[in-house]
Amino acid sequence: MKAVGVTPNQKTISILEHPAPELEADDQVRIRTIDVGICGTDREICTFVYGDPPAGSEYLVLGHEALGQIVELGSEVENLKVGDLVVPSVRRPCTDHHCVPCQNDLQDFCSTGSYIERGIKECHGFMTESFVERERFLTYVPPELRDVAVLMEPLTIAEKGLTQAWAVQKRLPWIRHEENGKPTGKGLNALVLGAGPIGILGAMKMKAAGFNTYVYSRSKAPNPKSEIVESIGVNYISSLEVPVQELPNIVGSIDLVYEGIGVSGVAFSVLSVLGLNGVYIYTGIPAPGGPMPIDANNLMRNIVLKNQAIVGTVNADEASFKAAIKDLAYFKKHWPEAIEAVISKRYALDSCRELLLDRATGIKNVISFE
Ligand SMILES: NC(=O)c1ccc[n+]([C@@H]2O[C@H](COP(=O)([O-])OP(=O)(O)OC[C@H]3O[C@@H](n4cnc5c(N)ncnc54)[C@H](OP(=O)(O)O)[C@@H]3O)[C@@H](O)[C@H]2O)c1
Ligand SMILES: [Zn+2]
Ligand SMILES: [Zn+2]
Repeated sequence: MKAVGVTPNQKTISILEHPAPELEADDQVRIRTIDVGICGTDREICTFVYGDPPAGSEYLVLGHEALGQIVELGSEVENLKVGDLVVPSVRRPCTDHHCVPCQNDLQDFCSTGSYIERGIKECHGFMTESFVERERFLTYVPPELRDVAVLMEPLTIAEKGLTQAWAVQKRLPWIRHEENGKPTGKGLNALVLGAGPIGILGAMKMKAAGFNTYVYSRSKAPNPKSEIVESIGVNYISSLEVPVQELPNIVGSIDLVYEGIGVSGVAFSVLSVLGLNGVYIYTGIPAPGGPMPIDANNLMRNIVLKNQAIVGTVNADEASFKAAIKDLAYFKKHWPEAIEAVISKRYALDSCRELLLDRATGIKNVISFE
């Protein structure tokens, strides 16, 4: 079976022969791969800064953003059937029985750091013709979402991010005007940093949640990314045209920042314009580098005097995957062209080396196994 793998010892990235997986437990299913998204994490693994093969393997099969179709079921699988479409999650719990988050299916908050991640850390990923997974790590995808479901995993980052923001903002009871039991962003301003897949999907999530939403990213408009966000009623602002300090003049009080650029200088500069009682959600993972000067006095004064909260968030739990399915359906209903345009192109497996190693192009590139 063909798979895209990195071999860190030899510093190679190649299409290699990988044994076809078989069911090893009764709660597992075998899945035929349909789509696998490529993201910055895959590209970074290809520079060998991280990305560990499983014990006993020289190589790591890449891929953590996948959609597949079930072809075989273990005898104890309860809620899935052959032919169902599914999206797998990425992180698997650690084996430490004292790790309360992992013992409670919240391995995204693992407190030992000994979790494993498919396609990233000590466990093969999904960039291969088929894979086996336990039922509990799969989310059912309705057939009508098949063409966009590969975007579910990056969308879960925004789902978890906003859940975290609401948890923090429970401290402000007056903005918890709830609709159908859910908090709403109505009357609040959200600023999303970056217009890559994380930023665009984050902007869609914030807009759908009712926020008056702005995207602040680098390239000048019009460009394909600004066109997507503007088509859903989100305002696009280029950092080449508007300095950070002017953002409050355009946005008003910035109640929420959802950061998806991974550039620490810009991200901390925007923290300096976060509004009163605002919450700032960091998701970006900067490339390793030397110390970065920040205006610490000003930032600290604001954080205290403006009652601000700063939250980092990584990975996502089962609830975020379930929420992402609902939101993808919402996006597809309300903004079908915009959500489809996030997927720049589907490529055959043979293109993987260029997609992983050459300069990044497009928004979300996908390897299709069909
Ligand atoms: N926390 C998590 O669990 C998690 C999961 C996945 C990804 N991430 C992180 O999320 C971040 C975004 O991921 P992505 O895949 O969306 O990345 P991406 O495709 O590289 O997009 C980054 C966006 O940021 C913009 N940008 C870059 N430098 C900028 C600057 N100096 N000023 C203003 N805008 C700038 C880019 O603008 P242009 O369009 O002009 O290039 C682009 O739109 C990354 O750091 C990634 O590591 C985190
Ligand atoms: Zn990814
Ligand atoms: Zn753990």
